Amino acid sequence: MRGTSARDALDGAITAIAAAGCETPRLDAELLLADVLGVSRERLIVDRDLVVEGLAVRAFQNAVRRRSVEREPVAYIVGHRGFRRLDLAVDPRVLIPRPETELLVEVALSLPRGVHVLDVGTGSGAVALALKDERPDLLLAGSDISEDALALARANGERLGVEVEWLRADLLSGVPDEFDAILSNPPYVAESARSSLAPEILRHEPPQALFSGPDGLVAIRALLAQVATRGRAATVALEVGAGQAPAVGELMRVAGFPAVRAERDLAGIERVVVGER
Ligand SMILES: C[S@@+](CC[C@H](N)C(=O)[O-])C[C@H]1O[C@@H](n2cnc3c(N)ncnc32)[C@H](O)[C@@H]1O
Repeated sequence: MRGTSARDALDGAITAIAAAGCETPRLDAELLLADVLGVSRERLIVDRDLVVEGLAVRAFQNAVRRRSVEREPVAYIVGHRGFRRLDLAVDPRVLIPRPETELLVEVALSLPRGVHVLDVGTGSGAVALALKDERPDLLLAGSDISEDALALARANGERLGVEVEWLRADLLSGVPDEFDAILSNPPYVAESARSSLAPEILRHEPPQALFSGPDGLVAIRALLAQVATRGRAATVALEVGAGQAPAVGELMRVAGFPAVRAERDLAGIERVVVGER
């Protein structure tokens, strides 16, 4: 197959991705081409002699088709996503870790030394792995109802050399009361918001990781009801959707956590609700 300059290949891809209605066509095209060529994004921009040729031509066409026609998220196409200091493998078995979820890790950085922490609904393992990476003194476990997600989380832990225990469980059912802190980015999208989600999310991310009943709070209510019956956890921290923090704060108080606060993300949204007792 004939080669073309990286610059021309990028221009064509940006046009196709923009025409499909994607929000960040230049960034997406650069990430896809950098991945196909095995170079950094910086090199794509500065190296005027870079050429797309041979097998890379077809590979890039295929990646651009997946992004523009099928609206697959870039992270699934390239197979990985950065989260805090880690590069995590991701695929459609798991939710793609979001930047706002880094706040949940930040909140947990101030936990006391050596405590035992559970990340409920761990998905790719993002929260548990990033926290263990930054606070090696903590004992970390990650749980999920999805065996498929746990397989990927486990593989991420092994590849990164970060030690986390993995548990399959429906929220806290069957999980021993041995955790000092419970963290979770649970599914919290209301069923009624389904039609407002971007096609990248709706068509490609696991529904089990997204939706939680009519108001989005079914999993959080069930989790806090379980936490209320346990004596050990002194801290609970949950990521929530925009506008959910007051209701979740109230559920935490009812669950026996009198000190409740909400931490805002970079967009100013109350994103992580923290309860302490
Ligand atoms: C929003 S995703 C979060 C994934 C990951 N923690 C992150 O932040 O990127 C929610 C996760 O909760 C899991 N999940 C959904 N219902 C669950 C349940 N009842 N018990 C345990 N995990 C559940 C899903 O499989 C999914 O991996």
